[in-house]
Amino acid sequence: MGHHDAGARRPPGPASPVYLDHAATTPMLPESLAAMTEELAQLGNPSSLHNAGRRARRVVEESREQIAEAYGARPSEVVFTSGGTEADNLAVKGLFWARRAADPRRLRVLTPAIEHHAVLDCVGWLDQHEGAEVSWLPLDDAGRVSAGALREVIERDPDAVALASVMWANNEVGTVQPVADLAAVAREHQIPFHSDAVQAAGQLPVDLAESGASALTITAHKIGGPVGVGALLLARGVDLVPVLHGGGQERDVRSGTLDAPAIRAFAVAVQHAAAARRDEGKRLAALRDDLIAQVLAAVPDAVLNGPAPGPDRLPGNAHFSFPGCEGDALLMLLDAKGIACSTGSACTAGIAQPSHVLLAMGADEARARGSLRFSLGHSSTQADVDALGAVIGEAVERARRAAR
Ligand SMILES: Cc1ncc(COP(=O)(O)O)c(C=O)c1O
Repeated sequence: MGHHDAGARRPPGPASPVYLDHAATTPMLPESLAAMTEELAQLGNPSSLHNAGRRARRVVEESREQIAEAYGARPSEVVFTSGGTEADNLAVKGLFWARRAADPRRLRVLTPAIEHHAVLDCVGWLDQHEGAEVSWLPLDDAGRVSAGALREVIERDPDAVALASVMWANNEVGTVQPVADLAAVAREHQIPFHSDAVQAAGQLPVDLAESGASALTITAHKIGGPVGVGALLLARGVDLVPVLHGGGQERDVRSGTLDAPAIRAFAVAVQHAAAARRDEGKRLAALRDDLIAQVLAAVPDAVLNGPAPGPDRLPGNAHFSFPGCEGDALLMLLDAKGIACSTGSACTAGIAQPSHVLLAMGADEARARGSLRFSLGHSSTQADVDALGAVIGEAVERARRAAR
């Protein structure tokens, strides 16, 4: 990717003309799509012993090495999964079960309430069905967990802690956590520390060894690879109990036939993202800052949620509350103008829910409902930002009239 808009490429296939929802999924990079297409035409189960199987195995192992290298891991520390949700389940449940099996007093799970549902609902399930005791980690106004806060919560009863899990970067408001500091505090007490790095892995220098984390979750479709493949980067010597049982692939940690085409496409996307990261981070941050300026110029009472632009915020993330609006109504008005964005929060049975992230950060329900996320990625251009700037003022006015 180049530094300028000329470097950004349009997503393949039909897409909304202005796509500002890269945090939900980002278009496949052409190189990744080509690698996957080529590999789909090949035959072979990577576990088979014949020539075709050995060829598929080589594809998987080369990809594993490339992904490991990009994220500061050893190849043996890469456990392929079906994506971020599965990797989060494997980390949170697997670490909990292993720690409790080693010492039945270990029932405490420490996490902030702003996690993605893939972590949050695992923790809730462990609480309901496995006797886990959840300690919610306190947050500052920008949604950050401090090392001091983690230490204080651990020290209430360190011997009873099973694990801590704090996401690297938040998918709604873009808050970047001090992961290395948090992992260091957990390490003082030999507590395994997991971080969901799904949103960070395409935009920030995510590194397993340097972070000191025990386990990191990544997924391909947020960094220009395909949907349906991801990995848990699991540091050597960290024990966990598998969630899936079967053929014993991935050294018995994750059974299931390895998806060689998706894994190869994942590795191509990862390499591409790693090579482009520094320039692309600057390019996205500059676009994001202009997007914020244009939205605030058109809607002066809009409120930017999350940290101020800078190192504590994902470069591609802008998230606002628009007073007096319903987020989903505003989303549909923008969609009608050809602009795709997100409320950032889950929609249960077709009913929009207020963002659990904003609620956890202390927002009231109206502010949490009237919010929208605009997220930028490799195909984003200045023209996308300008298109939003041109229509956001009128769309907010219409959404306000509709809400009265
Ligand atoms: C922070 C975070 N964790 C986990 C996931 C889930 O990943 P996947 O879609 O690969 O299951 C997402 C994607 O929405 C996410 O943003």
